[in-house]
Amino acid sequence: MFNSSADMTLIPDQLLASLRWRYATKKFDASRKIPAGTWDAIEESLVLTPSSFGLQPWKFIVIQDPGVRANLSPESWRQPQVTEASHYVVLTARTDLDSTDIDAWMARMCEVQGSSAEAVAPLDGMIRGFAQAMSHEARHAWNIRQVYIALGQLMASAALLGIDACPMEGISAAGYDHVLGLEGSGYATVVACALGYRAADDKYAEMPKARFDRSRVISHL
Ligand SMILES: Cc1cc2nc3c(=O)[nH]c(=O)nc-3n(C[C@H](O)[C@H](O)[C@H](O)COP(=O)(O)O)c2cc1C
Repeated sequence: MFNSSADMTLIPDQLLASLRWRYATKKFDASRKIPAGTWDAIEESLVLTPSSFGLQPWKFIVIQDPGVRANLSPESWRQPQVTEASHYVVLTARTDLDSTDIDAWMARMCEVQGSSAEAVAPLDGMIRGFAQAMSHEARHAWNIRQVYIALGQLMASAALLGIDACPMEGISAAGYDHVLGLEGSGYATVVACALGYRAADDKYAEMPKARFDRSRVISHL
């Protein structure tokens, strides 16, 4: 394990090499599977994703069943990543945020951090006030925004581990909900991510990374 933050700090060039190495993989090598230990770390990166107030309004569904992935294919414009990648994750958001969600989170905080209900009462009240001031639709939209943080963390974590990924928004969220039996569950599909190893002949791997100049997207005040 690491003894200090210095032990686990990448040098800037290492970070940038990983982020430049990653690209949205279009063609996976279907014969290569992510080893269990590496996959375990990737799942943990999802668990460790930060969220507003820490509420974690999501579920991540890891789909290994080839039959389910075949059923998702027509709901994904038949993009080959769905069936060919080693692992496929569907990221879902809570469709609302109610008292039971906040109760569960406060109980978990008390359990993990050894706090009392009295100690977390101010935070509890703040979260309830915040959530109640929103419409049902706004709460769902808020939760969806949190899920995109998880997608970013998932892709960056995968890249740092040398695992390829393709974020997948070209899907029918309603179609996924139907295939996965999510309707009425309180969770709904937001986005998906295929993970595995690039095929040797995926021409997208060699394309120059196309980004705006830094001066266009970053300003300093
Ligand atoms: C939220 C999101 C959804 C995306 N959906 C798809 C998709 O359905 N299929 C696909 O091939 N690429 C998809 N992409 C990949 C983007 O087109 C790609 O990330 C972008 O062009 C930048 O290229 P790069 O990731 O290779 O650097 C998606 C990217 C993001 C961030």
